[in-house]
Amino acid sequence: MSQSKYMKKVIQSVDFLKNWHGKAPEIAIVLGSGLSDAIPGINEMKSAKYSEIPGFKGSTVQGHKGDLRIGEIKVTMPDGFKKSREIAFLRGRNHAYEGNDAGEVVHNIRSLISWGVKGIILTNAAGCLNTEWELGKMMIITDHINSTALSPLNGEFGEGFGAQFVDMSSSYDKKWQKQFEDIAHSLDQKIYSGIYYGVLGAHYETPAEIRMFKSFGAGAVGMSTVLETIAARQMGAKVAGLSCLTNYGAGLKHEQLSHNEVMDMGNRFSHDMANIVLKAAVTLEI
Ligand code: 6GU
Repeated sequence: MSQSKYMKKVIQSVDFLKNWHGKAPEIAIVLGSGLSDAIPGINEMKSAKYSEIPGFKGSTVQGHKGDLRIGEIKVTMPDGFKKSREIAFLRGRNHAYEGNDAGEVVHNIRSLISWGVKGIILTNAAGCLNTEWELGKMMIITDHINSTALSPLNGEFGEGFGAQFVDMSSSYDKKWQKQFEDIAHSLDQKIYSGIYYGVLGAHYETPAEIRMFKSFGAGAVGMSTVLETIAARQMGAKVAGLSCLTNYGAGLKHEQLSHNEVMDMGNRFSHDMANIVLKAAVTLEI
């Protein structure tokens, strides 16, 4: 089998990453819209701009950074013990709505997993579909509905990364979901669980679409994450997903939606949410 152009780029990226940092961290966190500055000390961490990493692409979206950061994260657990782990942070991602094909959308994730990362925490800013939920909190993704009509496994996009037909019956690791919940509760923080409805965008939904997604059982809607999960599962990495609920879906609260509002709420991604994500990242079992 000849190597796909997607595989060739992943090999280039992995070569760079090995030279740059040696051994891969066990865990990587993808920071979505507005979440890029929420991690304390992230600006002082070791950094490679996406434009410096062969095969990586910069982001075209306002408010999305594009760099890979690596740092030793130290946390104090509820029992007072201190723990630490090296974590990779992908600040910014490539979306399909920017004109990327599915292979390009998942390139960064595939490169990190090929390098040796074992678990990926995907975060995003998402529209909330449950009017009883409070905005500014997180939803643990229990499952997803991929409504993008894309897959990173179609044709040459997926060649060589794993099985062609990938089981998606428990894509978001159950134990990790429970750990996120336990950590949030130990910090007295509210956290929800639900299904993420992944769309292509870049438009927001109509009220009729939002009613349909709700009727399908989804708790949040957004324009990322689902393709990355599929690619990570194909390669056998564990996945956790967290949606930061920045606004209600169209028609639910009679408000208009704008990217600036979504960014604003994302920027308020509080210390509390970052704390939950980091404590989990340091303690999750691989
Ligand atoms: Cl309401 N829809 C989509 N597709 N993405 C979002 C959102 C809504 N809010 C934040 N991101």
